[in-house]
Amino acid sequence: MEISYQHIEETANFIKANGIDQAEVGIILGTGLGGLVNELSIIKEMDYAGIPNFPVSTVESHQGKLIYAQLEGKKVLAMQGRFHYYEGYNMQQITLPVRVMKLLGIKYLLISNAAGAVNLNYKKGTLMLLDDHINLLPENPLTGKNLTEFGPRFPDMSQPYSKRMNDLMLAAAKEEGVVLHKGVYTAVPGPNLETRAEYRFISHIGGDAVGMSTVPEVIVANHMQLPCAAVSVLTDECNPDNLHPVSLQEILDVAAKAEKGLIKLFRSVIKQL
Ligand code: HPA
Repeated sequence: MEISYQHIEETANFIKANGIDQAEVGIILGTGLGGLVNELSIIKEMDYAGIPNFPVSTVESHQGKLIYAQLEGKKVLAMQGRFHYYEGYNMQQITLPVRVMKLLGIKYLLISNAAGAVNLNYKKGTLMLLDDHINLLPENPLTGKNLTEFGPRFPDMSQPYSKRMNDLMLAAAKEEGVVLHKGVYTAVPGPNLETRAEYRFISHIGGDAVGMSTVPEVIVANHMQLPCAAVSVLTDECNPDNLHPVSLQEILDVAAKAEKGLIKLFRSVIKQL
């Protein structure tokens, strides 16, 4: 389905009409990272299934809900469950919620994801702040007619992650005693995990972590000049010379354990924005 500006506006107006009209910070919760929801003072929840033009999440480990809530004195709009390329959506569909959240008023976007650690100095269960990324996805959300209402044809990507938000995140990590690496996230289509040769390749081209999300969302955020920051929970160690099979369950278990640190960081940054 081709998404036009009118579709995005229609979706935003529908959500506004449901009382979600003062969002300040958007949050995308990644695989196994829905725990932040338990800390929210929820104002209003909407199932994705009831929102016009929203894709419906097909991954069992992701719930599909938009949650409007208060956190650290701010009105936040949290996506519990995101959309991935491997689910069969096109890039415009995957990124529609980010554009909708911008029309709903968000001034900042915080993103989380689960990713494999390609940099072997980064241990599983730790967090990595995205400093930059490499896009190995086969499509781009900005392909096609440029939506000039949102931004220019050729958006700049010299600083895809907000320096201010990243500085806040690093300071919070120090203060809270949370291990937070900094690195380059490499986006791949999935859904299979990578081969040994692919992990080696990703390491050679400069990737510190690898995952199946985030980059499309960051591209549209940059197109709209929406400041964003993203944190990966490193769920497995991708050592091509000693690679073990990993299951989704292991990934979810590690994500659940590392989530506490992530929540501390997000709370601290939201408070200071
Ligand atoms: N590769 C891609 N995506 C992932 C991985 C991985 O090793 N771990 C968690 N998500």
